[in-house]
Amino acid sequence: MSSLEPSHRDTRMDPYIDQYADRTGSMTVSAVRALFSVANRPEVVSLAGGMPNITDLPLGRLGDSFDKLVQTKGVQAMQYGSGQGEPFMREKVVDVMAEEQIRANSDDVVITCGSQQALDLVTRIFINPGDVVLCEAPSYVGALGTFNAYQAEIHHVAMDEHGLVPSAVKEAVTTLRAAGKRVKFLYTIPNFNNPTGIQQPLERRRELLAVAHELDLLVVEDNPYGLLTIEGEPLPALRSMDPDVIYLGSFSKTFAPGFRIGWVLAPHAVRERLVIAQEAAVLSPPVFSQFAITDYLDNFDWRGQIVAFRDMYRARRDAMLQGLSDHMPAAATWTRPTGGFFVWLTLPEGLDSQALLARAVSERVAYVPGNAFYADGFGSRNMRLSYCFPTPERIYEGTRRLGKVIRDELEMRATFGLPATEVPHTQVGGPAPDLS
Ligand SMILES: Cc1ncc(COP(=O)(O)O)c(C=O)c1O
Repeated sequence: MSSLEPSHRDTRMDPYIDQYADRTGSMTVSAVRALFSVANRPEVVSLAGGMPNITDLPLGRLGDSFDKLVQTKGVQAMQYGSGQGEPFMREKVVDVMAEEQIRANSDDVVITCGSQQALDLVTRIFINPGDVVLCEAPSYVGALGTFNAYQAEIHHVAMDEHGLVPSAVKEAVTTLRAAGKRVKFLYTIPNFNNPTGIQQPLERRRELLAVAHELDLLVVEDNPYGLLTIEGEPLPALRSMDPDVIYLGSFSKTFAPGFRIGWVLAPHAVRERLVIAQEAAVLSPPVFSQFAITDYLDNFDWRGQIVAFRDMYRARRDAMLQGLSDHMPAAATWTRPTGGFFVWLTLPEGLDSQALLARAVSERVAYVPGNAFYADGFGSRNMRLSYCFPTPERIYEGTRRLGKVIRDELEMRATFGLPATEVPHTQVGGPAPDLS
């Protein structure tokens, strides 16, 4: 083709449209992505992102330590490594999990590129198109994206203020199985669920595991926030009570996300398949990161750093709760997290969080609309508010701006007698979504 001839790639239409795999059909671009580029401007208080605040890490000392690492072990640290992860890293992961009372063998650990890749590998080895994954209502948007990418059918199960409701899990599994569906696993975030911030108490964990056992239901426990308690001590992980649980962990929130190191702890047979899947995906997880994190765990007071993180997030959580109680209208409700990064707000009846977002951004505050955390269109009356990143003063100011947006909307509706918009809605503690 002469260089003057227009290439079919120049057209605005996607010339590859007929060639994509079916699984890309369920991959959608978020409608709010464009707004978020505006939301990242410095004048906007972003309560949207879930980025951990790592500015208090001892960067100077870390730099010296990594420098030494390159000088002394660089040839190994910059080489390919084991598909399962380096043995010394897996040993360290066993020590970290002991903080949540998990007793494990390092041979059953697979290192991954963040727990996001752990989710991908678990889904890859278990899910055929049309298989069902049960998730909390609401659940982590990144997990929903992964399940969608493998063409799973996502069914949400009701939560209340103590997390996932075991009787609702039982009802869902029974109904789905009776309809001939294959329910492959339950995905749950028992500690400070993203997006609600709710933690499941110990008794509820026992009940849930008993139901899972009775139903022969595989449980996948995702636990990036468990050590970031703001009140009290970390609770025992589900995996500490049941060795059949597949456990996902991460250094992203307790150290730093840029290393991209997470892990899966799985029963032996599952671990074997995960390693094969991992080798096919990335050959070996980042070796340099494993050296760097092991160095950090060996030579720094990482437990003390977690205590410092807890104090820092507590101040931010307090600023958000104070701001909400000072500025929200009476008809709004919200969760009061005891750890993690998020508050889940329920708007007064008739308001739609997605419809309000553009106005909120023009008032210089941003959040994530609740329907991002549901696969089925629910959550329009909710929003996720993150308190992890801005300063406490900015968080408080953000809640003031948000309160104004919501009050103005309520006032406008009252003035013009606008009917309440019918929005599908599940409140935490509300009814289980229809499974039919
Ligand atoms: C519940 C949950 N799981 C998994 C992840 C992914 O974390 P990473 O891949 O950084 O370990 C996140 C990140 O926000 C999360 O909130």
